[in-house]
This record gives sequence, C-alpha cells and structure tokens, in this order.
Amino acid sequence: MKGKNAFRLRLDYSNMMAENIGSKHGIDRKQIQKIADSIDPIHQEFLHHRQSDEVSFWNLPSQKKMAEEVLNYVRKVRGKFDHYVHIGIGGSALGAIALHTALQHPLYNLSPQRRQQRLPQVFFLDNIDPDTIKAVLNVIDIDKTLFNVVTKSGSTAETLATFLVFLQYLKDRLGSNYHNHLVFVTDPAKGFLRQLASAEGITAFAIPPGVGGRFSVLTPVGLLPAAIAGIDILELLHGASFMDELCQQESIWKNPAYLFAVLNYLNYQRDKKIVVMMPYSDRLYRLADWFRQLWAESLGKKLDLQGRQVFVGPTPVKALGTTDQHSQVQLYVEGPFDKIFVFLEVEQFETVLPINSGQALEKATRYLGGHTINELIAAEKRATELALTRNQRPNCTIKFPLVSAFTIGQIFQMLEIATAFAGKLFEINPFDQPGVEEGKIVTYALMGREGYEDKRLEVMDELQKRVVYEV
Ligand code: PA5
Repeated sequence: MKGKNAFRLRLDYSNMMAENIGSKHGIDRKQIQKIADSIDPIHQEFLHHRQSDEVSFWNLPSQKKMAEEVLNYVRKVRGKFDHYVHIGIGGSALGAIALHTALQHPLYNLSPQRRQQRLPQVFFLDNIDPDTIKAVLNVIDIDKTLFNVVTKSGSTAETLATFLVFLQYLKDRLGSNYHNHLVFVTDPAKGFLRQLASAEGITAFAIPPGVGGRFSVLTPVGLLPAAIAGIDILELLHGASFMDELCQQESIWKNPAYLFAVLNYLNYQRDKKIVVMMPYSDRLYRLADWFRQLWAESLGKKLDLQGRQVFVGPTPVKALGTTDQHSQVQLYVEGPFDKIFVFLEVEQFETVLPINSGQALEKATRYLGGHTINELIAAEKRATELALTRNQRPNCTIKFPLVSAFTIGQIFQMLEIATAFAGKLFEINPFDQPGVEEGKIVTYALMGREGYEDKRLEVMDELQKRVVYEV
C-alpha cells in the first residue's frame, strides 16, 4: 500500500475556511471540531457495517469473488461481440457511464486501440428517447451485439421497455439463439429479469440486496461494463479499498469522506444549499453526474429519522472547467451566496500537449507559445478558484494525481461514505428513495400495469381536476 500513497486523492479545503474567505462565509475550525467531538457512535456503526456478513457498499471493495465472476464471463465473450449495449437507468447506469468515460479513450468507439484489443463498441441507453434507441439500432449489427439489461428491482419501466424493443429485433434476427446475446444484472432472487434468466438460461449477475442502486457501481452493475471495455476492475476495487482504509480513521481531520460531508453540512446550515461539482477534466465530467444522483437522491428527504417533516437536501449541480467558465462562472462569482464549489483537478494528464511557440508570433498569442495545454488548464482552474475565493465563495478541490482505475475506485468509495455520513448529520435515511418510487408507481398506473388499477383511477381523477394554463 505504501507506494500507492503517491496516488492518493487529496481534499484541499483551504478555501472553505474563515482564514481564507472571511468569517461571514468561511467555516471556523471550532465548528468542525464540535461535530468531530460527537461522531464516535456514527463511526462505530460504520465500522460495524464493514465487518457485517451482509454485503453492503461498505464491504464491496473486498468482494473479489464478484469481480472474478465478472472477469470469467468477460473472458468467455471477448472477441465474440463488436457492440455492447447497456440498458439501465439511474444507479443502474450512471456509475457505469462515469467509469467508462473516466478510464477509457475519450473517443473510445472510434479509437484504433479499441479495435486492436478486440473490444466492442459501447453504447449506454439510460433514457427512453425513441430517436436515440432507434439510432443505436441503426448503427449496431444485432448478430454481433451483446445486450446487458441492468435493473436491481427488475421492474423499472424505462429499462424493461427498451429491453423489449431490442428483444423483438433479437428474436426476429437470431431465433432461439437470441439468449446468447443477453446478459442481466439484477436481484439475486426476485423480479422479472431473474425469472426470465432462470427460465431461458441467460447469464445473470447479482446485485447484493444490501447495496442500493446508487451505491452499486462496484458490483457487476459497474464492473461488468467496465471489464467488457478492458478496464482493470481489480485495480478499481484496490483503489476503493485503499480509500476505505483511510476512511476508517475516526478523526474527521484525517478522514476525507467525513470531512467532505461535514463541510457540505456546515455550508448547508449557512444557507449554501447548492453544491457545484466542477471537474477540470472531460474524463471526470460524468463522475459529476454520478455524484449528482448519489447526493440528491440520498440526502433530499421530506422526513427525518423520527418521521418529522424536514424537507431537507442540498442541490448538486454539475459544471465543466474550463467550458463553464464561459457560461456559469459569472453567476458563481457575483451571484447569490447560496453555493459551494467542489473542483476535481487532475495533476497529471495522460497527454502533455505543447503549444507550439513557432505558431504564436503575434503579441496577442506570444504568451501562450512554449507553454502546454496542461499548464493552461491548470492556470484556468487556479484563476477560477482565486476569483471565487476573493469573492468569499467557499470552494474546495479534490486532487487526482492522475485518472486511473486506482483513483476512480477511491473517489467512488470516498463519496459514498461521505453520503452515508452526511445522512447522519442531516438525520435522514440516505438509503431510501420514496420520491422516486412514487414516480415509478404513477408510471405503472398510467401505462395500465396489472395491479395498479386503483392507483390509475386516483391519478386520472387528480389529473382531471387540474386547472390547465397553456399558451
Ligand atoms: O438509486 C436508486 O435506487 C435508483 O436511482 C435506481 O438505481 C433507479 O431507479 C433504477 O432502478 P432499477 O435498478 O431497479 O432499475
């Protein structure tokens, strides 16, 4: 583990503190210490989760067997398929997309490396826009495609509907051989997909029941698509386990996940309820999407643990550096004091790209010549950080020594633990999602699902009573 320390993520929270942004908007060390003094019961509970026999997100990094099963399967299908289509939504897609974007070639589907390694093109369908689904159908060759249907509940309408569309094409084209082009990731025992898998002999990986959708990236939900695209999933788990060890320290001052949660919580209490995650890296942009779901769905709650109405929850927003400097930063620097900022910074990009000084002869461009694009993106980030800090806007930076399976594993584990810890601070249950379930039920009712007849009547009645304003 020692050598790996050089690749540890670091959380620089200097610009959240009163010393740097003033006491009106900055946090005092004493406020953090006050929370630190009372966290022992939470910390003990968290340690207990890790030791429990039940698989939960806490002990996923050590589930090597799960990863081995995925790798065995991937060895069997390697070279057989030219395309891989991932069908899933929310927690069944966002982690997988974040992983792929971070760790694969930025233009993976078009890259010669992909072809050399005989890796399939990858398509994620996490929405039900008919044009997109049709577009995927138009570019893939069904005979050479593996479809992975991912749904923990086995009943999400969007996922099943998309699956059914492709199933029709698969059966028409391949007859009884269709099931060789399918793999599922779902509950180990329950739900429609599990039944279908058993009936038809379709390979189906399990999502452990104790792992919630948005915490499931280190199960086959994220591991399978990553391994299919040639990502080192063992190193990913290694990174998560390395971070998990760091986060077993009780001291908030040493524990990046606890500290991240506390800083967010204290800012929320001071009416800074929006958290902008802003990677200065295209590779990390979709990680902000994954974080948005994790943070919003886990912490946005009507009821607290005592059942009292609290209507609590920070609003996560994503932005991209440098792109959004030219779109959002004006608001961030001068607008209302209702936001905090989490930069994701990459210290060493895979590529060092020089800006040719021979081409930068004019006065207006001379300053750029001889530098690198890497220096420019670092300077731009520093400039935005400074502008925010000068204007008393709390901001912090999670520093990635580089983007690798090891560092991506770390960020997943760190932010999941931070979410669990923030749940404790907000005194809500971060592991349920009653608001999402409500929407799913209304969809079933509107689409005429059996068993939802009464709900349908109730919804139709409600819709009829609505006053409509339209121009
Ligand atoms: O985090 C969650 O539980 C949700 O966002 C789910 O991931 C999402 O609703 C998809 O559910 P399922 O995997 O059951 O299709």
